[in-house]
Amino acid sequence: MCGIVGYIGTKKACPILIAGLTRLEYRGYDSAGISTIEKNGLSLMKDKGRVKNLNNLEGIDNLEGTIGIAHTRWATHGKPSKENSHPHQDNSKTFSVVHNGIIENYNELRSFLESNGYTFYSQTDTEVIPNLIHYYFEKDSQDKSIMRFLKAVQKACLDLKGSFAIEVISSLYPDNMIVVRKDSPLVIGTCEDEKYISSDIPAILSYTRDFYLLNDLEFVLLSRNEARFFDSNLNEIKKETTNIEWNASSAEKEGFEDFMLKEIYEQPTAIRETIGSRISPDLKCEIEELNVLDKAYLSSINMIYIVACGTAMHAGLVGKNSIEKLCKIPVEVDIASEFRYRSPIIDEKTLCIFISQSGETADTIAALKLAKSQGAKTIAISNVIGSSITREADFSIYTHAGPEIAVASTKAYTSQVILINILAIYFAEILGVCDSNLLKSLKQEILDLPKKVEETLKCDSQVKDFSKSIYQEKDIFFLGRGIDETVAKEGSLKLKEISYIHSESYASGELKHGPIALIENGITVISILTDPNLVEKSISNIQEVITRGAKTLVVTNQNLDYSMFDEVIKIPDTIPFVSPILSIIPLQLLAYHISKEKGLDVDKPRNLAKSVTVE
Ligand code: AGP
Ligand code: GLU
Repeated sequence: MCGIVGYIGTKKACPILIAGLTRLEYRGYDSAGISTIEKNGLSLMKDKGRVKNLNNLEGIDNLEGTIGIAHTRWATHGKPSKENSHPHQDNSKTFSVVHNGIIENYNELRSFLESNGYTFYSQTDTEVIPNLIHYYFEKDSQDKSIMRFLKAVQKACLDLKGSFAIEVISSLYPDNMIVVRKDSPLVIGTCEDEKYISSDIPAILSYTRDFYLLNDLEFVLLSRNEARFFDSNLNEIKKETTNIEWNASSAEKEGFEDFMLKEIYEQPTAIRETIGSRISPDLKCEIEELNVLDKAYLSSINMIYIVACGTAMHAGLVGKNSIEKLCKIPVEVDIASEFRYRSPIIDEKTLCIFISQSGETADTIAALKLAKSQGAKTIAISNVIGSSITREADFSIYTHAGPEIAVASTKAYTSQVILINILAIYFAEILGVCDSNLLKSLKQEILDLPKKVEETLKCDSQVKDFSKSIYQEKDIFFLGRGIDETVAKEGSLKLKEISYIHSESYASGELKHGPIALIENGITVISILTDPNLVEKSISNIQEVITRGAKTLVVTNQNLDYSMFDEVIKIPDTIPFVSPILSIIPLQLLAYHISKEKGLDVDKPRNLAKSVTVE
């Protein structure tokens, strides 16, 4: 959660910080603030509300400082208010700090500091950090060098339990900034005499493509033209930059009204990038990053867990279907926050796959660490190069979908579904357990998908019209069988997230075991019908709700008697392994248009943040 930006260079920091926060606002948006180093000390400007409110704060235009830190908050401790907004300062106002994450032992630290004469002005966990830095700084009063500042930050951080990405500036060190992270994201973009710090890459992509990716508890001492790295014991270490290929315009709206709509329309390109050379035109399948996983190893696996949250978990459900059918290995899909605490049975015969668009989801990272500690091999599927899960996992494969900014995930999902299917094919070929004609036709279908996605997107205006007839509803049901049930789940999540309409998804056959009691005259039921083997059974279930007065929307690639439904969205035909990539598109568009119709903020829905870096 939350976005952090920092700048240290030759230009005025304030406009750069506000521009960065605006790009990061999708990560958290209940309050915002900045602190810069001015001639007369540290400035501090903050308030609750959106980043744009910062421009109205008195004096903000007079800030001249060329070093500064900034924050857009997603409150965990203390309600959104001016006092609780970041940056926070120590009592003497010598240090300004922004923080992303949660300090689990803040009560204990607060009592300790209070007993040493410190006063607290906010309800946040964060406020202990600047005061703890001040405490250690004062204890070390012999040392006058920059190392005194660094040591104080290091000692404070070693006392913190929980997760943090922090930036610290001090009025006593007007040419420096210190940054460090543990289990929360932070990257440093570097140019000759400027350094840009950010919670994620897209926010600063227009300034540089060269990034330092930080490991946990690496302390970075920044000046305009230098970044010095230290391990947790403050031994100096060397670090190379990573060049990021994303282009800056991919993080802009480029004429679309919202990022979500842009990202929905980017799906053909995103999928092409995900496929890349992993499936060649002559239908060879290769995942280079996994080529040490040989037949002996894959044959030894007796269980695969796919672990993820939200939409990424829904992509995992599609993966379960493909891996079980093609590789004949049992697969369990788990929500990361549950997996961690349910004592899963894991050993060296277990393979664990973690899916995360951002690669920074706290629960997914913790689940990965647990699986590794119990001997499993781990694979990360992520969209963000160098993200935390990719640095923790034994193997990482990237979706290459380009930056996804809207909180509601769209192109990341379809790219994840493609990639997990390619992984299933790749393993099945190594294992030699699947009919080669089936694998061949699946590969061909995958290559044909970008065009079929383009075709599917033509349903946009039909979906928009339909959305006008249901946007005021209070409850909507999504139904599907088999692979279509996984899409029902994802369609329902999309709708909830951005339209705030309550919705439920069910396996079609499960409805009559309880939820059908909720079906009454006029309620909307949306069904996905793409598996020819299940279509007849599913139609019987839809009949059951029609009989009880439901209004029905059907998304299908089958030739049916359409007259029995209120609305049918026809999508191109493909095989069930990958049909979610097409059938989800009308449901993404439906959620989008309903949200627009209701006048809501599509890209930044209430209470949510793009990257859930707290547990
Ligand atoms: C998707 O629309 C949601 N915003 C959310 O469920 C998301 O998929 C989930 O938080 C996981 O995020 P990740 O892929 O970055 O780990
Ligand atoms: N825990 C801190 C707070 O509530 C930081 C939250 C965030 O990451 O935005 O202020």
